[in-house]
Amino acid sequence: MARNAWSARLLIWAAVVPILVTAFGRRDVPPACDDHSFMHVLPPNVSIEKVDFVESGNTYGEGSRNLNYPVQPTNLPELCAVTIFVKSSSKSAYRFGLFLPVDWNNRTLAYGNGGFGGGINWLDMGAGVKYGFAVLSTDTGHNSTSGDISWALNNPETKTDWGWRAVHGSVEIGKKVVEEYYKKKIDYSYYSGCSTGGRQGLKEVQISPDSFDGVLVGSAAWYTSHLNTWVSKVGTYNLPLTAPNHINASMFPAMAKEVVRQCDRLDGVEDGIISAPDECTPDYTVMACNRPGVNQSACLTAAQIETTKKAYGDYRAADGTLLYPGLSPGCENQWSLVLSQNMTSLYGLNYARYFLYDDPDWQWQDYNDSAPEYAARKDPGNATADGYDLAPFRDRGGKMIMYHGLADGLVPAKGSDLYWDRVVRTTSGGNATATQAFFRYFTVPGMGHCGGTAVDAPWNFAAPFQASSLGNDSWSVPGHRDARHDVLLALMGWVENGTVVEDVVATTWDMSNDSATPVLKQRPLCPYPATARWDGRGEVDAEGSWGCE
Ligand SMILES: *[C@@H]1O[C@H](CO)[C@@H](O)[C@H](O)[C@H]1NC(C)=O
Ligand SMILES: *[C@@H]1O[C@H](CO)[C@@H](O)[C@H](O)[C@H]1NC(C)=O
Ligand SMILES: *[C@@H]1O[C@H](CO)[C@@H](O)[C@H](O)[C@H]1NC(C)=O
Ligand SMILES: *[C@@H]1O[C@H](CO)[C@@H](O)[C@H](O)[C@H]1NC(C)=O
Ligand SMILES: *[C@@H]1O[C@H](CO)[C@@H](O)[C@H](O)[C@H]1NC(C)=O
Ligand SMILES: *[C@@H]1O[C@H](CO)[C@@H](O)[C@H](O)[C@H]1NC(C)=O
Ligand SMILES: *[C@@H]1O[C@H](CO)[C@@H](O)[C@H](O)[C@H]1NC(C)=O
Ligand SMILES: *[C@@H]1O[C@H](CO)[C@@H](O)[C@H](O)[C@H]1NC(C)=O
Ligand SMILES: *[C@@H]1O[C@H](CO)[C@@H](O)[C@H](O)[C@H]1NC(C)=O
Ligand SMILES: *[C@@H]1O[C@H](CO)[C@@H](O)[C@H](O)[C@H]1NC(C)=O
Ligand SMILES: *[C@@H]1O[C@H](CO)[C@@H](O)[C@H](O)[C@H]1NC(C)=O
Ligand SMILES: *[C@@H]1O[C@H](CO)[C@@H](O)[C@H](O)[C@H]1NC(C)=O
Repeated sequence: MARNAWSARLLIWAAVVPILVTAFGRRDVPPACDDHSFMHVLPPNVSIEKVDFVESGNTYGEGSRNLNYPVQPTNLPELCAVTIFVKSSSKSAYRFGLFLPVDWNNRTLAYGNGGFGGGINWLDMGAGVKYGFAVLSTDTGHNSTSGDISWALNNPETKTDWGWRAVHGSVEIGKKVVEEYYKKKIDYSYYSGCSTGGRQGLKEVQISPDSFDGVLVGSAAWYTSHLNTWVSKVGTYNLPLTAPNHINASMFPAMAKEVVRQCDRLDGVEDGIISAPDECTPDYTVMACNRPGVNQSACLTAAQIETTKKAYGDYRAADGTLLYPGLSPGCENQWSLVLSQNMTSLYGLNYARYFLYDDPDWQWQDYNDSAPEYAARKDPGNATADGYDLAPFRDRGGKMIMYHGLADGLVPAKGSDLYWDRVVRTTSGGNATATQAFFRYFTVPGMGHCGGTAVDAPWNFAAPFQASSLGNDSWSVPGHRDARHDVLLALMGWVENGTVVEDVVATTWDMSNDSATPVLKQRPLCPYPATARWDGRGEVDAEGSWGCE
């Protein structure tokens, strides 16, 4: 659109809202924050629900109307907030939100979701828009908390929206809106998501290699058919509550401590952080109740010790085929997520009820080992992101960074190893170096699911969901907003300048969730299969004392 048309629009708009013009004073051509700026690029089944101008320093979101993301980001930069409604079929619809900042960096960033939650992820969008990105996120086609999957019952269309269609459509339509709003081509498009968000990113790369130039995916719940059935299976190991093999959740901290005692030193430095969990097989007989001297209030029976072996063990089909790998030693502090409730986790139970079998009466006791194969064959919503040929993404110059916390007690870290290994085999004929030219995978010792730590491990590197645990106005890595400590900035450098991401430095603070307290530890994360090694001389808590090998 010609410049004078913009000026004319500005005059009309300015007459109505004079105060905003002052705010726009420092820009030459302020885009008007109203639906006329982009409505004409929307396809027929797409409509605008809401457009709001947000002044600098304000908050935005839907509050408690957003069941999954009720907390709003605060201290936003000046921006235009848009909510778009997409009728995806006669029986489904999804919405997505956009933050269009006045000070735009010419790039887009799409954020993913968590669990089965339905809601626009305004909180992460708040972190992203502070870099200058035009950010977007979809509600994935329903309005629910993370473990509520009843919206999927007998509705293949809502399943498809959650599976891939809402992300794909939002990115496609969102990019059109951005380019029309700013009257400029987008220079680069990025993605950032963890857990379900990791799955969503991988899925989009697999079905639409052109969507993103750079992709950040963490703790990816990519293998929906096998992971969500594994969640049921692992839950049954510790049930019912009255069984002699049942371990009460109150035991998990003591078990975690014992595993650190046994496994920590195998990585070359005793710092309370298990960096090489695969080299360790926890031996709980030292906590056995029949052993002399063992604390009888914190001991395990032989039957309970068998339960731990099953939880760490891989889930295999009768013929030995790997269905899903087990939990890694060191994640016991998070075991309550899949073990020790009075039923299996909702991610397993409700997946079976509402996604797989469409049978609300299905009980966890009904689980049997035909489930993973059945789920893989049916794959409701086409949600499983098991495409291993990433050549189309690679060939157009795409770059991807994947990571996984080794103390993840919800989505086993070894599931990411599995995805990486299969990509190496399928895309690069087994040559890991060739895969690393466009796709790198970083393990994060001591980090739980998507962020946080129970063992004071460096865990924050500006991945999704991480900023919000430091405050509703937080973004990047506070005090360390640079490409060495912020993985999103590192990814941008790789995409835009070809600066290969050799390592990323993770940070934690005295109080691990309070960045106002002093930095406690910083340490590089290394591209798998490399691991961080202490140089044996320097300060263990300083990043400079470590290298990748
Ligand atoms: C989501 O559902 C809740 C409770 O049923 C309702 O209060 C809220 O308005 C809904 N939110 C949206 C965005 O529709
Ligand atoms: C619009 O509706 C049609 C028909 O229902 C559907 O095929 C298409 O995917 C929808 N568009 C989007 C962006 O979802
Ligand atoms: C965005 O692109 C414009 C040119 O279209 C350029 O002047 C500006 O510096 C760019 N901004 C950034 C942050 O790259
Ligand atoms: C089981 O664990 C829960 C949660 O930690 C705790 O409230 C409860 O007292 C424990 N029960 C027993 C018998 O230890
Ligand atoms: C024994 O275990 C209980 C429960 O974990 C704990 O409260 C108590 O302090 C322990 N006793 C000793 C002597 O370590
Ligand atoms: C399981 O526990 C929850 C809360 O602790 C309770 O609401 C629910 O009724 C229990 N379910 C069964 C099957 O006992
Ligand atoms: C396994 O579970 C499914 C779903 O509950 C059920 O339809 C099937 O009959 C079960 N198979 C066996 C052998 O029990
Ligand atoms: C799932 O995706 C595949 C590949 O794009 C397609 O062939 C298949 O029809 C889809 N299935 C469903 C149930 O949507
Ligand atoms: C693996 O790929 C790298 C990078 O493309 C290449 O330099 C190397 O020769 C390959 N190695 C083998 C064994 O093919
Ligand atoms: C974030 O916002 C929520 C709800 O508005 C509030 O309860 C919480 O205290 C805030 N957290 C921080 C760290 O500011
Ligand atoms: C690319 O390199 C230039 C020159 O060093 C630097 O100014 C710019 O910030 C880099 N861009 C990114 C995205 O890292
Ligand atoms: C950090 O965690 C502690 C303990 O869980 C909590 O009380 C505190 O509010 C958290 N602080 C922030 C900034 O979220």
